[in-house]
Amino acid sequence: MKKHPSMLVPEFIREIDPYIPSRPDSYLMAAYGIPVLHRLNNNENPFGPPPAAMETIQSLNPKDMAIYPSGDAFDLRCHMAEKLGISPDQILCGNGANEIIQFVISAYCEAGDNIITADKTFAVYEWVAEFSGVQARLTPMKDHGFDPEAMLAFMDERTKIFFICNPNNPTGTFWDKETLQKFLEAVDGRAMVVVDEAYCEFAEDETFPDALTLLDDHPNLLIFRTFSKMYGLAGLRIGYLIGQKDPVFDICRTRIVYSINSAAQKAAMAAFGDKEHIEKTKRMVKESKNWLKTRLEGMGLDVIAGEGNYLIAGLPFNDQLAYRKLIRKGYMVRTMTGFRYPNHIRITLREKPLMEDFAVALEEVLEERGYPRLLS
Ligand SMILES: Cc1ncc(COP(=O)(O)O)c(C=O)c1O
Repeated sequence: MKKHPSMLVPEFIREIDPYIPSRPDSYLMAAYGIPVLHRLNNNENPFGPPPAAMETIQSLNPKDMAIYPSGDAFDLRCHMAEKLGISPDQILCGNGANEIIQFVISAYCEAGDNIITADKTFAVYEWVAEFSGVQARLTPMKDHGFDPEAMLAFMDERTKIFFICNPNNPTGTFWDKETLQKFLEAVDGRAMVVVDEAYCEFAEDETFPDALTLLDDHPNLLIFRTFSKMYGLAGLRIGYLIGQKDPVFDICRTRIVYSINSAAQKAAMAAFGDKEHIEKTKRMVKESKNWLKTRLEGMGLDVIAGEGNYLIAGLPFNDQLAYRKLIRKGYMVRTMTGFRYPNHIRITLREKPLMEDFAVALEEVLEERGYPRLLS
């Protein structure tokens, strides 16, 4: 019997609401009647990629676009491996760290398995698990951070992967080396432990761990990193994971070959490890973080700021409403209800003058809603 196409979709997929990405900036500017739109929503680097990567992008030959890229980012992996002092076989690249989340879940999980992460973190671990038919167990946070005990308590014989966002998006909390080590010892190889270090290059705290130093002792440890944040290459889509050779080989079974375009591979190679770019970006983020945190607290708002190029602020009203009010003033922030922080917005830390203008705009929104100007 003929069926409606939707009836061919498994029921657990039909229950999932598709993620609706925001409209292009040009569309939003026209819709809201604004001449500029400052992106404070996606934790992008306002400086763009490092200079060498910009040059590489500019020097690309359009004719070369007829050629398939390296299917496994061979040159890039060799380059990164040499700089990191590991083997190229310990690195797997993907079309953004997002794609790698999918590879890892596909490699380790089958129906009936579960993954464990926190309830207030980057949601893609949970989403990929769910549309893969795998249960996502979400543990409550402790002091806005991942709680190792709660995560272990949720573990059972069907737990295949723990996802730890270090530092956490959106709270900026992190596990130090000792916490990570103890957790790995407690898991004792019974499940994979993913440490997502998408924002590790921004870390200022001296106790922020170098997870690479734990790799030799822990074959079940996988480290995710990306070129989207510090390296300003979000538009080219490239991320990578590091692990011991055997797990990386296993994950290669489920990867999509040729998913990383040649421009991304070349630009990432030019960008990787540019210390000057990293230091310049960190200086800007640090200055803006300290300033904005104080300014927002002065307005009477609760602020959660840790590592990373973002902070979150609690508002006395709905975050979606704040989004709409702020976008009319030219600022796009990230609403946090989806991250289970209702009435909070996440703000990407950009250059201080822009943060100053943003603070004035937010203050006006608070006033429009009847909240007194707390700061003179
Ligand atoms: C914690 C975390 N992990 C992974 C990603 C995905 O990064 P990519 O752009 O490489 O897919 C993001 C992006 O926002 C993130 O915040």
